[in-house]
This record gives sequence, structure tokens and C-alpha cells, in this order.
Amino acid sequence: MRDLLALTARPGLVSFAGGLPADELLPLDQIQTCIDAVLTRDGARPLQYGPPYAPLKEQIALYMGSRGVACAPEDVFITGGSQQGLEIAMRLLLDAEESVAVESFTFTGILQAVRGHGGLPLPISVEPDTGIDLDEFDAALARKPRAAIVIPDFHNPLGVSLPEHKRIHLADLVARHNVPLIEDDPYSPLRYEGERLKPIKAYDETGSVTYLGSFSKMLAPAMRLGWMIAPRDLLPKLTVLRESIDLESSQLIQRAVAEFMARGWLEPHLARLNAINHARRDAMLAALRRELAPPGAGLAGLADWTTPQGGLFIWLTLRGDADTTALFHAALEQNVAFVPGGAFAAHDCAPRNSLRLNYSNAAPERIEEGVRRLANAVKEQLAMPA
Ligand SMILES: Cc1ncc(COP(=O)(O)O)c(C=O)c1O
Repeated sequence: MRDLLALTARPGLVSFAGGLPADELLPLDQIQTCIDAVLTRDGARPLQYGPPYAPLKEQIALYMGSRGVACAPEDVFITGGSQQGLEIAMRLLLDAEESVAVESFTFTGILQAVRGHGGLPLPISVEPDTGIDLDEFDAALARKPRAAIVIPDFHNPLGVSLPEHKRIHLADLVARHNVPLIEDDPYSPLRYEGERLKPIKAYDETGSVTYLGSFSKMLAPAMRLGWMIAPRDLLPKLTVLRESIDLESSQLIQRAVAEFMARGWLEPHLARLNAINHARRDAMLAALRRELAPPGAGLAGLADWTTPQGGLFIWLTLRGDADTTALFHAALEQNVAFVPGGAFAAHDCAPRNSLRLNYSNAAPERIEEGVRRLANAVKEQLAMPA
């Protein structure tokens, strides 16, 4: 995937390939204000080594409470982002040749964390509108995988979110089978439509669920800051594992983020970010309908796609047995890029006719232009008139 992304860095190209908040929506001035305030108030302390910053843990515990997860500041384990949380969890749980249940298409970093420890992803099918298939999940848990990893909201790459009844059922299944579940949730703060749902962790009565949160998508990826809510008895082990990776998170960044939250800036920032992402999603959906017409639109549809209620991604599946890796190169000729679905496949025989579109990084006019170019590449591949 890194090689594919390198090909997309050229002038004039419309990239739907990234997975980042748009540069112009990062709260630059506010972050600068917070860093200045922290250095003025705390002097050299933010530039030193130090234990996890207690006021940040308090802010995160409050935030989790507002999401329906009752926890104390002592339950919050600061990480260097969700990816580090995944790595720590896999180090803790996994030995070579053990399996981990994952969604059949999932974030590449999850597959890397599992495979990096010699683990074997155990793919579970995903329903386009409601996420992971729970009958299949139940059957997979009966085979006693070492862990399961699920992305509950605005899935990367599928865009889908689990409805409440599935969250409750999932929490019940992992408790019944006694399999630890890692809930990887960097996207739930990016909801712009529909009802805000509680994380799976909110329904965890047995300490089976470890929750991973991140400031990457809700604030800025370069903060490299996130958190974990894990069963309390794991915290000493997690601390030792974390220290073996990078000792600790930056004091300066922890304090600046705590300041950002304490000033009450997070909610208004998210409201602005989400409103703009909403408009960009609408622009992409409208352009897809126009250019690739789904069934019911009165035209022969060329593709189906998900309609996310937040987050950054739409998952598009071409009709028939199209290969989106070949399409990627044809699309580059048209100056538009996406990520072929195969990059996210948890197993080798997954269908190759899907792709991930990111809509948060281009203004609506660029999105329309990009989808026009994409449709041309699709029609060219299918030998249809553009
Ligand atoms: C599902 C998922 N988990 C984890 C990550 C990594 O997040 P972080 O920047 O917090 O390490 C990403 C980043 O794209 C992601 O999409």
C-alpha cells in the first residue's frame, strides 16, 4: 500500500487514496495556543520525561463517560496512538501460529500487528449495512482464537458501523467464549449523521473488551496520542510493554491536548470538521450516483457503495469480477487515485472488485472531477463509451 500511495503524489492528481483529516481542517492556531500556554505555565516540565499526564487521563475519562463508558482516570492507559495500542495488545496476547478473528476486509495496520507476531488473521464476513456477521463470528469464537479485533464505527475501509443490537450481542459473545476483544475506535468522534452509539466497551460486564481511542482523526495524526481502556489487572503488564517500545508519550503533547480539551475546544472543532466532511461525503455520493448509477436509478449500475454516517471512507464494489488493482493503474492515467480493496483483505482469496474512496481530503468540486475521472477509467476497463 505504501508503494501505491507513493504513486499518487503528483501534481493535478485527485487523490481519494489517503486516510487523513484535511490539512486545512487541522486546528493549527488552537494547537499553537495550547503549546504556548503549556510552556508558559509549566516551564521545562513539558520538555522532560514524565509519567502519563494525570489531567489528560481525567479529560479522557470524562470523554469516555460522555460516550457511555464509565471509567476512572486510573483506568486510562495513554498510548502513542491506536496502532501502538494494537501492537501492545498483540505483544501481550499473541504467540506465533495463533489466530485472531478480524473483519474480512480491515485496516492494514491490524493485519500488520497480527502478522508481525506470527499470528494468523481469521477473517469474518461483513454485511455491507451492519458490519461483522455475528453468526460467523460466534462460530469462529468457538474455535478459540487468541483474540478478536473489531472496528465499531465508520470502519476503515468499509465505512460501515455496527448497530446497537450488534454491539450488545458482540460483548455477550466474547464474554461467553472468553475471547479478548480489541475494539479499535479512532473514527466514532467523526459522526455527522444518525444517532451517536455507545462503544462495545459500554456493554462489557466481564472485562473482555479492551477499548482503543485515538486523537489522530479527531485532532491531528501527528499528536501520536491515544488511549486504551483495559481491565485494571492488565495495567502493570501494559506499562512494562509500552516502556519497551518507546518509554512514554511526549509530555508536551499530552499537556497540550489536555489543555485543548480543558478549554472546551474539542466539541466545536469536531462540529466544524464533521460538517465539512458531511458536505464532502454528499458530494461524493451525488457524483457516484451520477457517474456510476446504482440499480433503481433507472440505469444499468456499474457499482454499489456504502453510505457512511461519519468517518472518512466509502467502500465501492464494482459489478462483476473487475480487478481494482488493474483499475488503479488505469485510474492513475486519468489522474485519480484510490486504494484497491485487496490491500485490506484478511485472506488471499477475497474478491478483488472493491476499492476504498476517501472523501475528506478534497473540496466538493475536486471530488466531482475525481469521480468523473474514476468513472472514465471504469468504463474504459469495461470497454464502454465514457
Ligand atoms: C482502524 C484504524 N485503527 C488504527 C489506526 C491508527 O491510528 P493511530 O494514528 O491512532 O495510530 C488507523 C489509522 O488510519 C485506523 O484506520
